Amino acid sequence: MNNQSVRKEYYSNDIIDEAAHYLSTITDSPKLESEILLADILKKDRLDFYKRNLSIDHLLYKKYQSLLSERQKGKPLAYLTGKKEFWSLVLQVNEAVLIPRPETELLVEKCLSFIKKYNNPNVLELGTGSGAVSIALAKESPLIKFTAIDISTKALELAKKNAINNHVNNILFKTSDWFSEVNEEFNIIVSNPLMLIKMN
Ligand SMILES: C[S@@+](CC[C@H](N)C(=O)[O-])C[C@H]1O[C@@H](n2cnc3c(N)ncnc32)[C@H](O)[C@@H]1O
Repeated sequence: MNNQSVRKEYYSNDIIDEAAHYLSTITDSPKLESEILLADILKKDRLDFYKRNLSIDHLLYKKYQSLLSERQKGKPLAYLTGKKEFWSLVLQVNEAVLIPRPETELLVEKCLSFIKKYNNPNVLELGTGSGAVSIALAKESPLIKFTAIDISTKALELAKKNAINNHVNNILFKTSDWFSEVNEEFNIIVSNPLMLIKMN
C-alpha cells in the first residue's frame, strides 16, 4: 500500500480494489471488509460505492490506510468500526467486550421460547458483555423485567449505552461477580460465558 502515498487523488473504486488485495490473505471477504471500512470513515452507505466513484481526500485516505493496516495485523473488523449487528440491533463494541457472535442469536431464540412458556418471568443474564443477549430479549419482551450482570464495569457502561441507543429500558444492569450481588430469585437464567480451559 506504500506507493499510494505519492498519489494526489484517490477514488473509491481504486482504493477498495487495492485494499481488497491487501486484506486477501487474512479474510475470506476482503472486498466487503474494504468497503465497510471505507464506508465507516466516509460515514456513507457501502452501496454508495456502487452508485458513484467517490473522490477521497488525502487525510481520509491516510486514515483508511491506518485502519487497513490494523485489520491486516488481525484486529477484528467490529473493533475497527466500533459496531456490530446482532439480532437486527446495532450494538457498539470496544475492547472491553467480546464481539457478539451470530451463533449467540440461537441462545436468544431458545430463551425467548422459555420466556413465552412462563407468565411474566424474572430473567437474569450472567456475563452480559455488550448487553447483546439481554437487549435482544428485552426488545422482544418489553413488558418483562430483565437483570443483566457482569464483573466488568467497562462492559456494563457499554451495555447500558447499547440499551439506550436501542430504546430498551426494561433491563437492570448490575456489577456482580456471578451471583455475588444477586439476591433475587429468577425463573430463567441465561448465560453465554467464555470457557477457559487450561491444557497442560
Ligand atoms: C464471552 S463474554 C459473553 C458476552 C455476551 N453475553 C455475549 O454473548 O456476547 C463473557 C462475559 O462474562 C463476563 N464475566 C467473566 N467473569 C465473570 C464473573 N466472574 N462474573 C460476572 N461476569 C463475568 C465477562 O466480563 C464477559 O463480558
